[in-house]
Amino acid sequence: MKQPAKDPKLIKQQRQKMLQFRRQLPIYSGREAIIETIKANDAVIVIGETGSGKTTQIPQFILEAGLASHELGTIAVTQPRRVAAVNLAKRVAEETSSTLGGKVGYTVRFDDTSSNHTLIKYLTDGMLLRELLMDELLLKYKVIVLDEAHERTLRTDMLFGMIKNIQRIRKDKAAQGEDVEPLKIVIMSATLDADKFSEFFDMAKILYVSGRLFPVDTFFTKEPQADYLDASLVTIFQIHLKQGPGDILVFLPGQEAIETLTTLVKEYAAQLRRSQQQVLACPLFAALPPSQQQHVFDPAPENTRKVILATNIAETSITIPGIKYVVDCGLAKMRGFNPKIGVESLLVHPISKSSAWQRTGRAGREASGTCYRLYTEDTFRELDDDTVPEIRRCNLAAALLSLKASGVDDVLSFDYMDRPSRASLVRALEELYSLSAIDDRGHLTELGKRMASFPLDPTFSKVILQSADYGCTKEALAIVSLLSVDSIFYTPSDKREQAAEARRKFLHPDGDHLTFLNVLQAYWEVKGDLGWCRDHFINVRNVKVALDIRDQLVRFCERNNIPPQVSCGTDTDQVLKCFLTGFFRNTALLQPDGSYKSVVGNQIVKIHPGSAMFGKRAEGIMYNELVFTTKHYVRNVSAIQSSWLPEAAPKYFNNMRASV
Ligand code: CDP
Ligand code: MG
Repeated sequence: MKQPAKDPKLIKQQRQKMLQFRRQLPIYSGREAIIETIKANDAVIVIGETGSGKTTQIPQFILEAGLASHELGTIAVTQPRRVAAVNLAKRVAEETSSTLGGKVGYTVRFDDTSSNHTLIKYLTDGMLLRELLMDELLLKYKVIVLDEAHERTLRTDMLFGMIKNIQRIRKDKAAQGEDVEPLKIVIMSATLDADKFSEFFDMAKILYVSGRLFPVDTFFTKEPQADYLDASLVTIFQIHLKQGPGDILVFLPGQEAIETLTTLVKEYAAQLRRSQQQVLACPLFAALPPSQQQHVFDPAPENTRKVILATNIAETSITIPGIKYVVDCGLAKMRGFNPKIGVESLLVHPISKSSAWQRTGRAGREASGTCYRLYTEDTFRELDDDTVPEIRRCNLAAALLSLKASGVDDVLSFDYMDRPSRASLVRALEELYSLSAIDDRGHLTELGKRMASFPLDPTFSKVILQSADYGCTKEALAIVSLLSVDSIFYTPSDKREQAAEARRKFLHPDGDHLTFLNVLQAYWEVKGDLGWCRDHFINVRNVKVALDIRDQLVRFCERNNIPPQVSCGTDTDQVLKCFLTGFFRNTALLQPDGSYKSVVGNQIVKIHPGSAMFGKRAEGIMYNELVFTTKHYVRNVSAIQSSWLPEAAPKYFNNMRASV
């Protein structure tokens, strides 16, 4: 690609252009009002359409108005996403004609360009939480900007409570004459539901930046699309061949989908005639090397249409100029959405209506545009209105563990924007205690600290951490990942008998966990052969999702110095004992009449007919799921010995004994 020559005249021209650009951003006309409001208030909420200039301009306004400085304290701007933090810092460094790491810098995990000179620092919310552990009152900052507040990630919610508390303490200290600067808080969001933020920050003032959004024509598909990649590809080239100029932004759920589609688009594009307008495919996702991310922002070469294939990173946190067409597959990878094992950030899920509108809006930034939704209007109507706050989605024990790991000891009186009930908080604490994640004074244990670093519900992270002691990490990883998907089997209604017969081959006498393991081992032996999967009624898609999760967990194990390949071979009791360290409360013992009574709660539970343990008798059973229908059914069940229980959870069972 041609690089423009860097002569001084050109640089000056570029600088001039940048200034002009800044001045014509919608937020510019509100500059004085914004500065005055921040000056006069402790906390301010700014609502504005994506691309109006909130993230890049407001920190500059604050600085220009002298509301932050090396003496008073600097500005921190949090971002839920790493790429956004890096990208925004670069942009603002450019706009302020400074080098990265000078006036403007960023801090993300494993990469820190900030320095003593930095006045505006973009950082991930995780990094600010980490700074909090070193500097309780975040004294180095005068202004903290919590950006992308509408996303309501667990970390952002944690920061809301913590920063509010810090502000109160600093204000008190300053009032008592201590040499402490009061803290200013700015909350920025792209969606309109600002009242909740305002209420939380003691009726903080809300500023609306009038955005500039041109009309966008929105189309749905008539039929649901079986393959969103295929549908995206077709749509991209229909736009390219039939519609006028303008770049295309395609929203896809994750890196893998983006890479696959990028290859396909390139293949198709190669077949275009030379006389036709060409196509340039630009992927954009968090893990992409920064040098490649830049392509997204560079103007397309002459006679070329850019097709940007992005995750929901392009939804509100990064604005790409030149977009006239949006293709929305309606899916996103989300954190904490798998209630089965509480895996975070890993599963593809339908987006909310407000996300869909945000995506649509990307087509109308500079002129009117068009949005193609690759789902039906009925599907759209069924979407949730807003993305549910993560703290409401993930297991509360996991959320509390995170809070504790971030230094909030008293999680009961923590200031939650969406406060869970006291009973559920207490229950979650009890769970953490019985898992030995916290001690009897509620402090995080060493084990708890390590559990907090895993993207799993605490029960499952405990199993994986303990698997090193039981010598069965390989097996634990396999089973945990398989438990994360709906079912690795499928049963066509007209072939029930055949499916059951095919499945019998994998059955393990000790139940479902080891049966799953048999399936995966067989799958690996045939290298996932599709014919074999079909013959054995294996749901390939779900197995692949599970393996994807497994890969991620393997990386977490490596980071925690747990060799992921350690296997117990044929000593499979080890696997079940290991699972008990997390699931000791999900157990039931055989009664003389042949029923099973749960160890906790003394409930009669029935083994689900789909389980390998159905109709069998064992001294005790352990299960991962309890389903309420007409009876209490348990699923994913294995046989255990009652003598294993005290070893699996000494704290819990000794307490029980003491209280009897
Ligand atoms: O935060 P908000 O969505 O309101 O907007 P912003 O991120 O501050 O971006 C303001 C404008 O700057 C966008 O409309 C983009 O056109 C431009 N921008 C850019 O060209 N390159 C970047 N890396 C970031 C922003
Ligand atoms: Mg922004």
